[in-house]
Amino acid sequence: MKTIKDLDIKNKKVLIRCDFNVPLKDGKIEDDNRIVEALPTIKYAIEENAKVILLSHLGRVKEESDLEKNNLKVVADRLSELLGKDVIFVNETRGEELEEKINSMNPKDVLLIQNTRYEDLDGKKESSNDEELGAYWASLGDVFINDAFGTVHRAHASNVGIASHKEGNSAVGFLVEKELKALSELDNPERPFMVILGGAKVSDKIGVIENLVTKADKILIGGGMAFTFLKAKGFNIGKSLLDEENIDFCKKVLAEHEDKIILPVDVKSSTEYSNDTPMKVVTINEIEENDMGLDLGPQTIDLYEKYLSLAKTVIWNGPLGVYEFDNYKAGTEDLLKYLVDNNIKTILGGGDIVAAASNCNLKDKVFHASTGGGSTLEYLEGKKLPGIESIK
Ligand code: 3PG
Repeated sequence: MKTIKDLDIKNKKVLIRCDFNVPLKDGKIEDDNRIVEALPTIKYAIEENAKVILLSHLGRVKEESDLEKNNLKVVADRLSELLGKDVIFVNETRGEELEEKINSMNPKDVLLIQNTRYEDLDGKKESSNDEELGAYWASLGDVFINDAFGTVHRAHASNVGIASHKEGNSAVGFLVEKELKALSELDNPERPFMVILGGAKVSDKIGVIENLVTKADKILIGGGMAFTFLKAKGFNIGKSLLDEENIDFCKKVLAEHEDKIILPVDVKSSTEYSNDTPMKVVTINEIEENDMGLDLGPQTIDLYEKYLSLAKTVIWNGPLGVYEFDNYKAGTEDLLKYLVDNNIKTILGGGDIVAAASNCNLKDKVFHASTGGGSTLEYLEGKKLPGIESIK
């Protein structure tokens, strides 16, 4: 697959699709990781004297009231700081003003177009990959670089649409290249290969479990989804999270792969979803009607460390407890530390586990922390990713 270095971008108008879909709170960026990760491609294009035209979505735009809270201006400001140069922000997704600003760009200028999903207000043009919109955006530049790894599982006008009008003149950027290289470690992993799966619902992970259960040597399960597995094994789970519809799926997986699926043996629980109600540690035989499991217990952490001590490759998706609450973050944090301290090749895929690693300053110490959430999951499910296919 072509990468940005395979194209001649010198003095050209280079369209770069980034994933600047960053978490915002009260109009401020909470975590700028996705912007930081986009810098190598943008800086390279600047060094090559390109006129750099950036596109990204931010949030989801369904009605007028979604416009202001998903305004990309805040990203343009942060990007200006990170690049140490002004980023021209165009508060439009098409039209004369945008075209004029692009036509008056000098080499090395960087311009950011308003949120591509503003076009969704008009018949979901961006998200339904409207033909005319993809062709229009493609017409604004000479070459197209897709560097939005977090969005490669979408077939939208700003990625697949543009690429389809830039055949031969499309490539991936350094971030997509780096992400695919890291994930390709899982195609033929050094063994033992272990998967850690957490998060709330089994339903979000069915495809991943189905695809990885035959490839992995062990799957260690935590988070809310562990309780549906425990229920399927006949344990009382009290008020813990239950994904009722998927109990049968868990039963089937356990029946076929009992030796591979590793479940908690104890949990930290409380009577409420709160950090402030009293916490207790119980074995999985002792969970009472009023208990709600919120994290792995210490025996489980020890047990999982024993398995991980054998691992040569680990992929981890989803936190193992309510890591936002101090009392219930140990399962996630201790195992992250264990993997880092023991230098075990670990790939973190998914927004929540990467945010958890970031909170405890471990994100930059793992082998790879992906910027993709949904896209990594779909990769792990073995699905084709339209944003990549359209470049190939
Ligand atoms: C993400 O954050 O997963 C990507 O930016 C894609 O966003 P979406 O789920 O709104 O398409």
